[in-house]
Amino acid sequence: MKMVFLGPPGAGKGTMAVRVAEEAGIPHISTGDIFRFNIKNQTELGTRVKAILDSGELVPDSLTIELVQDRISKDDAQSGFILDGFPRTIPQADALSSMTTLDRVINFELNDEEVVRRLSGRRVHPGSGRTYHVLFSPPRVEGKDDATGEDLVQREDDKEDAIKNRLRVYREQTEPLIQYYRSRDMLVDLDSSPAPDTVYAALKALLNL
Ligand code: AP5
Repeated sequence: MKMVFLGPPGAGKGTMAVRVAEEAGIPHISTGDIFRFNIKNQTELGTRVKAILDSGELVPDSLTIELVQDRISKDDAQSGFILDGFPRTIPQADALSSMTTLDRVINFELNDEEVVRRLSGRRVHPGSGRTYHVLFSPPRVEGKDDATGEDLVQREDDKEDAIKNRLRVYREQTEPLIQYYRSRDMLVDLDSSPAPDTVYAALKALLNL
């Protein structure tokens, strides 16, 4: 199944995508993770996009579209994939529709207050990308990754000013995609405010997993 997970920052797209990808045996393709991997490894792409990610603005469409086109052409994506964080603009959605045919777009719904609560409490293990929340899914030892014992960090864009900017960018540039996909009869809404296991059960039912 070829899917897009759409929704505001912090709605739980990444958390759910990891679980669905494992259960369905398809790759989880997160443009945010790809950019952060490049930043961590100080590649040319990473150097170009670091300041953009830190501020919460969007990477230019041309760069992002090329990256996704290349990734979904790989062998492991031929029977399906989850796109998490792409598309984020109408030009990206138009480009995607010329690359492939999607089966489903899941619209993760969460209010701004909860977005801020989730993002400000998020902690990440930089080596693996594993994500925790200081209140909702804390690590066994405070500030340490469960598997490696290494330090957890706060993403630069999870600080207050960047969160506000990301929400503004989402409203202006990404939210119009809800109507874009709804009018094409491809969109399914998912209330992502309950606890993770409840959201996951609802998602599995939607996807017939
Ligand atoms: P990206 O990494 O895609 O960030 P995002 O969309 O803002 O999404 P997040 O990763 O912040 O949130 P999420 O919905 O995955 O939530 P999560 O599961 O982690 O993009 C980062 C940046 O890259 C962008 O700002 C932009 O600069 C650039 N970029 C990326 N794609 C681009 C594109 N297509 N075009 C241009 N630029 C692009 O959950 C959040 C927290 O909540 C976690 O702590 C988690 O443990 C907790 N949580 C999750 N679910 C629940 C629940 N049900 N109950 C309680 N807590 C929960």
